[in-house]
Amino acid sequence: MATDAHPPLPRFPAGFLWGVSTSAHQIEGAADERGPSVWDAFAAEPGRIKDGSTAAVACDHCHRHREDVALLADLGVSAYRFSVSWPRVLSGGIGFYDRLVDDLCAAGVRPVPTLFHWDLPLGLDWLERDTAERFAAYAATVAGRLGDRVQKWITLNEPAEHTLLGHALGVHAPGRRLLFDALPAAHHQLLAHGLAVRALRASGATDIGIANSHGPTWPASGEKEDVEAAEFYDVLLNRLFADPLLLGRYPDGVGELMPGDVAADLEVIAEPLDWYGVNYYAPARVGAPQAGPAESGGVPLPAGLPFSLREIEGRPVTDFGWPVVPEGLTELLTGFRDRYGDRLPPVVVTENGCSYPGVDDQERIAYLDGHLRALHRALEAGVDVRGYFVWSLLDNFEWAEGYARRFGLVHVDFATLERTPKASYGWFREVLRAQR
Ligand code: BGC
Repeated sequence: MATDAHPPLPRFPAGFLWGVSTSAHQIEGAADERGPSVWDAFAAEPGRIKDGSTAAVACDHCHRHREDVALLADLGVSAYRFSVSWPRVLSGGIGFYDRLVDDLCAAGVRPVPTLFHWDLPLGLDWLERDTAERFAAYAATVAGRLGDRVQKWITLNEPAEHTLLGHALGVHAPGRRLLFDALPAAHHQLLAHGLAVRALRASGATDIGIANSHGPTWPASGEKEDVEAAEFYDVLLNRLFADPLLLGRYPDGVGELMPGDVAADLEVIAEPLDWYGVNYYAPARVGAPQAGPAESGGVPLPAGLPFSLREIEGRPVTDFGWPVVPEGLTELLTGFRDRYGDRLPPVVVTENGCSYPGVDDQERIAYLDGHLRALHRALEAGVDVRGYFVWSLLDNFEWAEGYARRFGLVHVDFATLERTPKASYGWFREVLRAQR
């Protein structure tokens, strides 16, 4: 809705993909109809999830997907990014995705599945190389079943967060606190990605990407120590994943820490991508290490790290405490184009969104409006951006935060499972209408 606060958005190119994103573990429920994942085991451990909840029911999307597809159709998105649960496929439940994809196609919404969004089958382990090969076999199974109707594929979601939060800091499943010894989990996920790209192509897929989380890292000051700390953080968050995918090499000093025949693996990892997915939430302000307890977005950080995360002052924050910095998206995308040049394929923003309570969510409208304008500025600056997906369609199981953080355009009452479109849903629908 164009108002004084939000004048009409600039026009995006014809054919631009407009969508919303979700993930299997966060919405599906029906946990008793699939095999267990590392997240089921993790959430069952006392104290792991803030509100003590699990995703056993979540939004009960498996049983209510028709209602959710109707919400997508009414919203008017051209695409829907969801993830396929590897544990569900392993236990014979791929039929659910068959039905979902059929319903999406019937509703005129393009299905964009992600093959892995953190719910690793229990018993598998990213520290084991073998997991990468198993992932490629699973990718082939899914492509064999859905490939007649799915054109656009995403291999992995955010291997950076899964490595950092799940294997280095232990605040996500599988709950390991390995710090830098977690790096093999990153390498095996990247290898899994490359092997899956090959498996998908072998089954006829032609439009394959990955969804990586990225953000600008701002040095806390111009002092050498702060600048070096910010560069280190930039390597961890951005280059550790984008360099091998786009340039076929790890940043200096990283390859030596990875297991196996890294040079041979890098050839697989750098299989050309049809497009590159960027999940953007906020930048990070980074300085030299400081004394005292450190944390990042409420996550306690161990002592001895070569950097410290500082507050970005003077910005509104979401109820997660994340600063709202729309121009960080322009900076990120133009910075990527400058860093990777013609090695960067067309970009799709595969996630962008914010957590706020309530159904009259004016702050979410302001957040999304600001980020879409920032995205348009990246287009004007010559970045080849092909699509934008809001995180998320529904309020859902927000990992270690449980149900306390609400990212949805649609409110979910977790007692009754009733869906109520929020003000932001109505606003986004008007945005999409105006862009048609
Ligand atoms: C993840 C989502 C998550 C969102 C908000 C992204 O890092 O892909 O699963 O819900 O951020 O925290």
